[in-house]
Amino acid sequence: MGKYKGNKGNLMQHWTLCEVLLIANCHHSSLNYIDAHAMAPFAATRKGNDPVFDHVRDNLANGQSVYEQAWKELTSDCPGTYPNSANFVQHLWRGDLSMLLCEKDAGIAARLKAWVDDLRQSEKLRCGKVHHGDWRERFCQGLPNPVDAGLPEDALTLVSFHPYMISDRTHRYMEDPGNLYPQDMGAIGQALEDVKGAVVVQMSTYSINGPNPQPDITSLVDKSLRVYGLERVAKTRTGGDMMSLIYARNVDWACGELKSLGDRFTDWLDAQRKAAKRT
Ligand SMILES: C[S@@+](CC[C@H](N)C(=O)[O-])C[C@H]1O[C@@H](n2cnc3c(N)ncnc32)[C@H](O)[C@@H]1O
Repeated sequence: MGKYKGNKGNLMQHWTLCEVLLIANCHHSSLNYIDAHAMAPFAATRKGNDPVFDHVRDNLANGQSVYEQAWKELTSDCPGTYPNSANFVQHLWRGDLSMLLCEKDAGIAARLKAWVDDLRQSEKLRCGKVHHGDWRERFCQGLPNPVDAGLPEDALTLVSFHPYMISDRTHRYMEDPGNLYPQDMGAIGQALEDVKGAVVVQMSTYSINGPNPQPDITSLVDKSLRVYGLERVAKTRTGGDMMSLIYARNVDWACGELKSLGDRFTDWLDAQRKAAKRT
């Protein structure tokens, strides 16, 4: 059923996603969701251990954030599993929704296909597609515009990248296709160039091995995506190793309404850390 780390990286990735969805839904009634690293809809095999993640999971009933409430509701029938980004999106988005999910693992891609079929039958989805293979293969074919995905032109397109890490080493390109490399930034920018209207990108990294210090990675991605009109509007971090970067293009509300995400996440995580220490 798919693996998940079960660490502060998951907390960062999905607290940030859920806050972006909540704010975006106030401005857009339709969402064109594209995920390069989809994972299983409900992952059951935990690879890591983290007392802060445990504390949040074990106290979802008292959770105040939209993330904790969604996590609780999504796993009420399957406790012990962890939802992927697409699951939080379908659960929280109010309005029309279309999805393109990329996943290279055959077993997980098959599960995603069955899950998307169910969502389509429940009319949760206007259009749902799963690409089994490397996201690079799918992105170079061109990405769906909202109208291609059965949505109105003014829909928001939200694109999600959750590699193992972002590396700034060009000579290491494709050493691990699960990472992102400088060469990928151009491919991403070009694929998004033909996507019209409002675009938001969430790109996360979960390690600085290499080393790939965060300031270097941030400036690499900032410079690369700025060429395609994507400006960074927020950054959430767990500390020196994991961060989630949010970029936007043609989104007039993004700068004003997303800029506080970084401080808000730090406050939320600090509170969870303190609470975890007390238990
Ligand atoms: C990259 S992993 C990372 C998840 C999480 N960020 C972590 O660090 O554990 C997420 C999912 O992406 C899939 N994946 C890895 N490389 C991929 C690629 N090049 N294209 C599409 N999916 C990929 C994996 O099979 C997995 O289900």
